[in-house]
Amino acid sequence: MHASCNSFVELVKNRTSCRAYKTDPVPRGHIELMLEAARLAPSACNKQPWRFAVVTDQDTRLRLVNEAFIAGIPMKWAENAPVIIALGMERSLVTHKIAPKISGVEYPLLDLGIAGEHLVLQAEELGLGSCWIGWIKPKEVRQIVGWPRGIEPVSLITFGWPADGERKHRPRLSADEITKWI
Ligand SMILES: Cc1cc2nc3c(=O)[nH]c(=O)nc-3n(C[C@H](O)[C@H](O)[C@H](O)COP(=O)(O)O)c2cc1C
Repeated sequence: MHASCNSFVELVKNRTSCRAYKTDPVPRGHIELMLEAARLAPSACNKQPWRFAVVTDQDTRLRLVNEAFIAGIPMKWAENAPVIIALGMERSLVTHKIAPKISGVEYPLLDLGIAGEHLVLQAEELGLGSCWIGWIKPKEVRQIVGWPRGIEPVSLITFGWPADGERKHRPRLSADEITKWI
Protein backbone atom coordinates (compact mmCIF):
# COMPACT_ATOMS: atom_id res chain seq x y z
CA MET A 1 0.00 0.00 0.00
CA HIS A 2 0.91 3.65 -0.41
CA ALA A 3 2.85 4.95 2.60
CA SER A 4 -0.17 6.85 3.93
CA CYS A 5 -2.85 4.29 2.98
CA ASN A 6 -3.83 1.17 4.91
CA SER A 7 -6.71 0.05 2.76
CA PHE A 8 -7.89 0.01 -0.81
CA VAL A 9 -10.56 2.64 -0.19
CA GLU A 10 -7.97 4.97 1.36
CA LEU A 11 -5.82 4.55 -1.75
CA VAL A 12 -8.82 5.46 -3.89
CA LYS A 13 -9.67 8.45 -1.67
CA ASN A 14 -6.10 9.69 -1.86
CA ARG A 15 -5.94 9.67 -5.68
CA THR A 16 -6.57 12.87 -7.57
CA SER A 17 -5.70 13.77 -11.14
CA CYS A 18 -2.15 15.12 -11.14
CA ARG A 19 -1.39 18.05 -13.45
CA ALA A 20 2.03 19.08 -12.13
CA TYR A 21 5.01 16.75 -12.15
CA LYS A 22 8.60 16.71 -11.03
CA THR A 23 10.89 15.93 -13.94
CA ASP A 24 12.53 12.94 -12.16
CA PRO A 25 12.24 9.77 -14.24
CA VAL A 26 10.01 6.87 -13.23
CA PRO A 27 11.88 3.57 -12.75
CA ARG A 28 11.11 1.05 -15.48
CA GLY A 29 10.16 -1.53 -12.81
CA HIS A 30 7.36 0.77 -11.61
CA ILE A 31 5.97 1.05 -15.14
CA GLU A 32 6.21 -2.72 -15.59
CA LEU A 33 4.24 -3.27 -12.37
CA MET A 34 1.53 -0.87 -13.59
CA LEU A 35 1.35 -2.72 -16.91
CA GLU A 36 1.07 -6.03 -15.04
CA ALA A 37 -1.89 -4.68 -13.05
CA ALA A 38 -3.53 -3.63 -16.33
CA ARG A 39 -2.73 -6.92 -18.07
CA LEU A 40 -4.67 -8.83 -15.38
CA ALA A 41 -7.84 -6.72 -15.73
CA PRO A 42 -11.13 -8.43 -16.60
CA SER A 43 -12.64 -7.99 -20.08
CA ALA A 44 -15.74 -9.01 -21.98
CA CYS A 45 -15.27 -12.58 -23.31
CA ASN A 46 -11.71 -12.26 -21.99
CA LYS A 47 -10.87 -10.53 -25.30
CA GLN A 48 -8.24 -8.29 -23.64
CA PRO A 49 -8.64 -5.61 -26.35
CA TRP A 50 -6.17 -3.21 -24.65
CA ARG A 51 -2.85 -2.31 -26.17
CA PHE A 52 -0.37 0.02 -24.49
CA ALA A 53 2.31 2.30 -25.91
CA VAL A 54 4.66 3.46 -23.17
CA VAL A 55 6.23 6.77 -24.15
CA THR A 56 9.21 7.98 -22.12
CA ASP A 57 11.24 9.42 -25.01
CA GLN A 58 11.10 13.21 -24.60
CA ASP A 59 10.65 14.14 -28.27
CA THR A 60 7.80 11.68 -28.66
CA ARG A 61 6.12 12.88 -25.46
CA LEU A 62 6.31 16.47 -26.65
CA ARG A 63 4.86 15.48 -30.00
CA LEU A 64 1.92 13.80 -28.25
CA VAL A 65 1.23 16.89 -26.13
CA ASN A 66 1.65 19.40 -28.96
CA GLU A 67 0.22 17.47 -31.91
CA ALA A 68 -2.23 14.92 -30.49
CA PHE A 69 -4.04 16.93 -27.81
CA ILE A 70 -7.12 18.84 -29.00
CA ALA A 71 -6.49 22.58 -28.67
CA GLY A 72 -8.64 24.73 -26.42
CA ILE A 73 -7.96 23.35 -22.95
CA PRO A 74 -4.57 24.42 -21.54
CA MET A 75 -2.65 21.18 -21.08
CA LYS A 76 0.96 22.38 -21.41
CA TRP A 77 1.58 20.91 -17.95
CA ALA A 78 1.61 17.48 -19.61
CA GLU A 79 4.96 18.32 -21.22
CA ASN A 80 6.58 17.71 -17.83
CA ALA A 81 5.09 14.26 -17.27
CA PRO A 82 8.00 11.82 -17.67
CA VAL A 83 5.71 9.01 -18.85
CA ILE A 84 2.69 9.02 -21.13
CA ILE A 85 0.90 5.74 -21.80
CA ALA A 86 -1.38 5.55 -24.83
CA LEU A 87 -4.34 3.17 -24.51
CA GLY A 88 -5.34 1.53 -27.75
CA MET A 89 -8.24 -0.75 -28.58
CA GLU A 90 -7.60 -3.79 -30.76
CA ARG A 91 -10.75 -4.35 -32.78
CA SER A 92 -12.36 -7.79 -32.64
CA LEU A 93 -15.36 -9.08 -34.55
CA VAL A 94 -17.20 -10.59 -31.57
CA THR A 95 -16.98 -7.80 -28.98
CA HIS A 96 -16.83 -4.84 -31.40
CA LYS A 97 -19.43 -5.79 -33.97
CA ILE A 98 -21.63 -8.72 -33.00
CA ALA A 99 -22.14 -8.30 -29.23
CA PRO A 100 -22.76 -4.49 -29.23
CA LYS A 101 -25.26 -4.93 -32.09
CA ILE A 102 -27.28 -7.29 -29.92
CA SER A 103 -26.94 -5.54 -26.55
CA GLY A 104 -26.01 -1.94 -27.46
CA VAL A 105 -23.13 -2.04 -24.98
CA GLU A 106 -19.64 -0.97 -26.11
CA TYR A 107 -17.68 -3.72 -24.36
CA PRO A 108 -14.15 -2.85 -25.54
CA LEU A 109 -14.47 0.71 -24.24
CA LEU A 110 -15.50 -0.66 -20.83
CA ASP A 111 -12.52 -3.02 -20.94
CA LEU A 112 -10.10 -0.19 -21.75
CA GLY A 113 -11.51 1.89 -18.90
CA ILE A 114 -10.96 -0.91 -16.42
CA ALA A 115 -7.40 -1.63 -17.62
CA GLY A 116 -6.51 2.07 -17.65
CA GLU A 117 -7.72 2.53 -14.09
CA HIS A 118 -5.66 -0.49 -13.01
CA LEU A 119 -2.63 1.40 -14.36
CA VAL A 120 -3.69 4.50 -12.44
CA LEU A 121 -4.34 2.75 -9.12
CA GLN A 122 -1.10 0.77 -9.26
CA ALA A 123 0.69 4.05 -9.98
CA GLU A 124 -1.05 5.62 -6.97
CA GLU A 125 0.14 2.80 -4.74
CA LEU A 126 3.69 3.50 -5.89
CA GLY A 127 3.27 7.18 -5.00
CA LEU A 128 3.02 8.28 -8.63
CA GLY A 129 0.57 10.86 -9.91
CA SER A 130 -1.51 10.34 -13.04
CA CYS A 131 -4.05 12.04 -15.24
CA TRP A 132 -6.34 10.57 -17.89
CA ILE A 133 -6.30 12.61 -21.11
CA GLY A 134 -9.34 11.87 -23.22
CA TRP A 135 -9.23 15.17 -25.16
CA ILE A 136 -7.08 13.70 -27.94
CA LYS A 137 -6.87 13.28 -31.70
CA PRO A 138 -6.81 9.48 -32.11
CA LYS A 139 -5.33 9.53 -35.64
CA GLU A 140 -2.39 11.66 -34.53
CA VAL A 141 -1.78 9.42 -31.50
CA ARG A 142 -1.77 6.34 -33.74
CA GLN A 143 0.69 7.92 -36.13
CA ILE A 144 3.03 9.20 -33.40
CA VAL A 145 3.21 5.90 -31.49
CA GLY A 146 3.34 3.87 -34.71
CA TRP A 147 0.27 1.68 -34.22
CA PRO A 148 -1.36 -0.02 -37.24
CA ARG A 149 -4.90 0.92 -38.34
CA GLY A 150 -6.42 -2.02 -36.42
CA ILE A 151 -5.56 -0.34 -33.13
CA GLU A 152 -7.80 2.57 -32.19
CA PRO A 153 -6.31 5.01 -29.65
CA VAL A 154 -8.92 5.84 -26.99
CA SER A 155 -7.00 7.73 -24.32
CA LEU A 156 -3.64 8.87 -23.02
CA ILE A 157 -2.64 8.83 -19.35
CA THR A 158 0.22 10.90 -17.96
CA PHE A 159 2.33 9.58 -15.08
CA GLY A 160 5.10 10.97 -12.89
CA TRP A 161 6.10 12.06 -9.44
CA PRO A 162 3.63 14.72 -8.24
CA ALA A 163 5.03 18.22 -7.72
CA ASP A 164 4.70 19.40 -4.11
CA GLY A 165 1.22 20.53 -3.15
CA GLU A 166 -0.39 18.89 -6.19
CA ARG A 167 -3.49 17.40 -4.51
CA LYS A 168 -6.88 18.90 -5.16
CA HIS A 169 -9.88 16.76 -4.26
CA ARG A 170 -12.83 17.47 -6.51
CA PRO A 171 -16.37 16.98 -5.21
CA ARG A 172 -18.38 13.85 -5.90
CA LEU A 173 -22.10 13.17 -5.93
CA SER A 174 -23.36 11.58 -2.72
CA ALA A 175 -24.03 7.85 -2.50
CA ASP A 176 -27.77 8.59 -2.38
CA GLU A 177 -27.63 10.60 -5.59
CA ILE A 178 -26.07 7.79 -7.60
CA THR A 179 -27.41 4.64 -5.97
CA LYS A 180 -30.74 2.89 -5.94
CA TRP A 181 -31.14 -0.02 -3.52
CA ILE A 182 -33.85 -2.45 -4.47
C1 LIG B 1 -11.92 9.27 -19.53
C2 LIG B 1 -11.33 10.49 -18.88
C3 LIG B 1 -10.88 11.53 -19.67
C4 LIG B 1 -10.27 12.66 -19.10
N1 LIG B 1 -9.72 13.62 -19.91
C5 LIG B 1 -9.04 14.64 -19.34
C6 LIG B 1 -8.37 15.58 -20.17
O1 LIG B 1 -8.39 15.51 -21.41
N2 LIG B 1 -7.67 16.59 -19.57
C7 LIG B 1 -7.60 16.70 -18.21
O2 LIG B 1 -6.93 17.61 -17.72
N3 LIG B 1 -8.24 15.81 -17.39
C8 LIG B 1 -8.94 14.79 -17.92
N4 LIG B 1 -9.56 13.86 -17.12
C9 LIG B 1 -9.51 14.01 -15.65
C10 LIG B 1 -10.86 14.45 -15.06
O3 LIG B 1 -11.05 15.82 -15.32
C11 LIG B 1 -10.87 14.15 -13.54
O4 LIG B 1 -10.75 12.76 -13.34
C12 LIG B 1 -12.15 14.65 -12.88
O5 LIG B 1 -12.28 16.04 -12.95
C13 LIG B 1 -12.19 14.25 -11.40
O6 LIG B 1 -11.05 14.77 -10.72
P1 LIG B 1 -10.01 13.84 -9.97
O7 LIG B 1 -9.50 12.81 -10.98
O8 LIG B 1 -8.91 14.75 -9.51
O9 LIG B 1 -10.71 13.17 -8.84
C14 LIG B 1 -10.18 12.75 -17.68
C15 LIG B 1 -10.66 11.70 -16.88
C16 LIG B 1 -11.20 10.58 -17.47
C17 LIG B 1 -11.65 9.44 -16.58
